[in-house]
Amino acid sequence: MTDQVFCPNHIVVTGGAGFIGSNFVHWVVKNQPQVHVTVLDALTYAGNRENLAGIPDSRLAFVHGNICDEELVDRLVANTDAVVHFAAESHNDNSINDPTPFLRTNVQGTYVLLQACRKHDVRFHHISTDEVYGDLALDDPSRFTESTPYNPSSPYSSTKASSDMLVRAWVRTFGVRATISNCSNNYGPYQHVEKFIPRQITNLLCGIRPKLYGDGLNVRDWIHAEDHSSAVWCILTQGRIGETYLIGADGERSNIQVLRAILEAMGAGPDDFDWVRDRPGHDRRYAIDSTKLRTELGWQPKHTDFSQGLAQTIQWYREHQGWWRPVKEATEARYAATGQ
Ligand code: NAD
Ligand code: DAU
Repeated sequence: MTDQVFCPNHIVVTGGAGFIGSNFVHWVVKNQPQVHVTVLDALTYAGNRENLAGIPDSRLAFVHGNICDEELVDRLVANTDAVVHFAAESHNDNSINDPTPFLRTNVQGTYVLLQACRKHDVRFHHISTDEVYGDLALDDPSRFTESTPYNPSSPYSSTKASSDMLVRAWVRTFGVRATISNCSNNYGPYQHVEKFIPRQITNLLCGIRPKLYGDGLNVRDWIHAEDHSSAVWCILTQGRIGETYLIGADGERSNIQVLRAILEAMGAGPDDFDWVRDRPGHDRRYAIDSTKLRTELGWQPKHTDFSQGLAQTIQWYREHQGWWRPVKEATEARYAATGQ
């Protein structure tokens, strides 16, 4: 453990109406009663104000705005102790279809936030992804660590890698008090139906056959969004300035394993799915070694039973059909246009 703990009373959470950002806001409201949260979110197709329903006004202020808006960002950053930066264009397939918003939000938006944190000397935590490291071979026993060289493959991951580099430069050159975390694939409530696990669950609930890319052997390292949230809080409050921490929960599984677990849990047969066109440049395997976070900051994941976490997630999508049904048809239409 580090000796110095940073105790913010007020934080700005960018992208707090998205999947992981809203899970983080719920986690903070529940576990850190002294903290007031301001969410800054542009409510793109991926953001939903409903994700924050039930949080009292005494704990949360919601600002509908863009992280590229310098004046707005300056005003919010001037009045906070810390910025936790989740806002991003987050979906690889979308970045292949149109990289433009990825450049704007992920690179330019991060730059605007860094400039404001520099000006007002505000603590900054940058949420990033394990995809900045590229991929590993299926038969490679190694996992990503904080010293793995950057080697991003997709427009999405290359913009996330760019934003990480901006953060590192602003720490070194301007003394911005920043940390970075690179996390593996998240699952849990509030995830958009474009992503793998919710897409297949909601396909089955709609009577559509699930869709598997390529040969289905690509491996992802799954972590529950609640565990990502507790890790981010741990790094924000105890992490060493200028450091990067990898977040992962030893959840490696092939896509076909995950899909068959969903099929079984939902009462379908193991082959009740369609093989579809592979993603161009599809990363083969991600795997995180989170030793630094666990040994230096004492973090541990709580959701260590994937089948239990998956069952809870399936239940959440069964019980929240009003949340996802309005966007399901348009999402599937976008996939159909690319043969996926
Ligand atoms: P998401 O797409 O569900 O949510 C993104 C949120 O950001 C939305 O609420 C959206 O409205 C908001 N947003 C987008 N552009 C904005 C802008 N210009 N200004 C203000 N708000 C804007 O994404 P997610 O899956 O929750 O990912 C959150 C963060 O975590 C991202 O930075 C992503 O790179 C990172 N990450 C995600 C995963 C994962 O498995 N989903 C894993 C590791 C890291
Ligand atoms: O590793 C962290 C990353 O995880 C985050 O940085 C990204 O924001 C997040 O979207 C996620 O990226 P992936 O590309 O791994 O996630 P996605 O849910 O899109 O796909 C997971 C795997 O499933 C991937 O190998 C592609 C495959 N897939 C996906 C979809 C949508 C399918 O086989 N069928 C599908 O229908």
